Amino acid sequence: MAQSARDGFTSTFGVLLATLGSAVGLGNIWKFPSLTGMNGGAGFLLVYLLATLLVGLPVMIVETMLGRAARANAITTFEKVAPRGQWWWKIIGWMGFLAALLIMAFYSGVAGWVYAYVIKAAMGEISTTDPKAAGAAFGALVSNPVSSLLWQWVVLGVTGSIIMLGVSRGIEAVARKLMPLLFILLLVLCVRSLTLPGAAAPGLAFLFSPDLAKITPAVVLTALGLAFFKLSIGMGTMLTYGSYFREDQNIPATTTRVMLADLSVSLLAGIAIFPAVFAFGFEPAAGPSLVFMTIPAVFTSMPGGTVFMTIFFLLTAIASVGAILSLLEVPVAILSERFGYGRKRASLYTILAIALLGVPATLSQSVMAEIKVFGMNAFDLYDFLSSNVMLPLGGILICLFVGWVYGLPQLEKQLGNDGSLPNRGLIRAVFFLVRYVTPLLIALVLLHGLKVF
Ligand code: PFF
Repeated sequence: MAQSARDGFTSTFGVLLATLGSAVGLGNIWKFPSLTGMNGGAGFLLVYLLATLLVGLPVMIVETMLGRAARANAITTFEKVAPRGQWWWKIIGWMGFLAALLIMAFYSGVAGWVYAYVIKAAMGEISTTDPKAAGAAFGALVSNPVSSLLWQWVVLGVTGSIIMLGVSRGIEAVARKLMPLLFILLLVLCVRSLTLPGAAAPGLAFLFSPDLAKITPAVVLTALGLAFFKLSIGMGTMLTYGSYFREDQNIPATTTRVMLADLSVSLLAGIAIFPAVFAFGFEPAAGPSLVFMTIPAVFTSMPGGTVFMTIFFLLTAIASVGAILSLLEVPVAILSERFGYGRKRASLYTILAIALLGVPATLSQSVMAEIKVFGMNAFDLYDFLSSNVMLPLGGILICLFVGWVYGLPQLEKQLGNDGSLPNRGLIRAVFFLVRYVTPLLIALVLLHGLKVF
């Protein structure tokens, strides 16, 4: 990618798909169901919905806006848009750099499990509806330190090669083609799951009939962290993607569409999984293994299951690529634009750093399971620190910056595309939210969830 003329997305539709490609990923298929299961179901889902609307969407809009206004990476953007002397806003970018590495360190490990499951599905090794057998198959994969590390490195090799090709050719081309297929397959899964004997009633009640007593401060913080993680915000990913947006892109409309599509995919994953959990006697609170046990069971109970199961894991692997590319783009853009490395070298350093950081996370499912910090193994610690601490903190700072430093006139100019969009009322509402409501909400949830008060 040339340093002088920055690369960018080539069509408005491409922008939408690439942004969607970043948001939709293992977060929908793997993290959303496992967190919903572990945190009591419907109550968690309700808080997650509120967090997405009141916090996620406004942050997503203003973060993307900042990137397009500055047309730079997550650190340089704040040098460009902050008043002279206020160097500290750059911390947002550095924190994003770190968060991207931390997330990648465990996310690429989970993607490795998905890649392995493509092969296992094709070979018929996971075709079972028995919770014990399904648990044993998953356990055998993650507790093997060698194969789980190798799979993680395959993921890093594949995605590292794509990112070296550059933004428009790499990201857009991959994102454009395959998302609709995954959506259709999820719909098929939902129908099968809901029609299993004894599945629909308990499954839907678990997802949609909230028990308010289960909503504790820790649950609220987890839901907020998931909202940030899902929308790829609070750490400069949307900012970096925003920097590749076209001038005529309608940012509020694009981000709202992405948020809605992303929510639909998560809900479909939930509806595909929870009825089956009850029909087959799986444990809803199983955690990270939930999807890897339940999805094969649903496929096993339908005609042509092996083929569809293989395609499903393949599409999930591909969906994870869109998200991983956007995660890698944060450090790669920083290293290439600020340190003058070529895109290839920046990608290589990023991949190496992640491979190193990834070792403890991946081995925490086997030989390093007992090594704990704050009572968490490396996998859980990386996830907690990034999703539940760094992203919300980044979100607060981005809101405070836009609400109190950047100001309404600039925001109107950027989000209204210089007066060409009839959306002044909407911009004022976003401004009000990011100035007063959103940062306060995040701060309350963060402090309460971390037991500061
Ligand atoms: N949103 C992605 C998912 O839900 O799978 C994960 C992710 C991508 C998080 C990019 C953060 C990010 F910057």
